[in-house]
Amino acid sequence: MPDQQLRIDRCVCHDVTFERALEVAKSRSLSLDQLADELGCTTGCGSCEPYLRRCLATGQVVFHEIIED
Ligand code: FES
Repeated sequence: MPDQQLRIDRCVCHDVTFERALEVAKSRSLSLDQLADELGCTTGCGSCEPYLRRCLATGQVVFHEIIED
């Protein structure tokens, strides 16, 4: 259930916002793996990966719920 007080909007390990990741991915048609190589996101703790997957699929850049898959 969405929790408006919860705000997840970036890869914390590499301080890359999902907004920036989406911009880079779209402008150069990068896959998630290519984005990881380019910006480092998903290569630390990995907890941003499901968010980035959804971000690339839907364009959503701010999340108010925990996504674990
Ligand atoms: S939050 Fe992105 S790798 Fe840890």
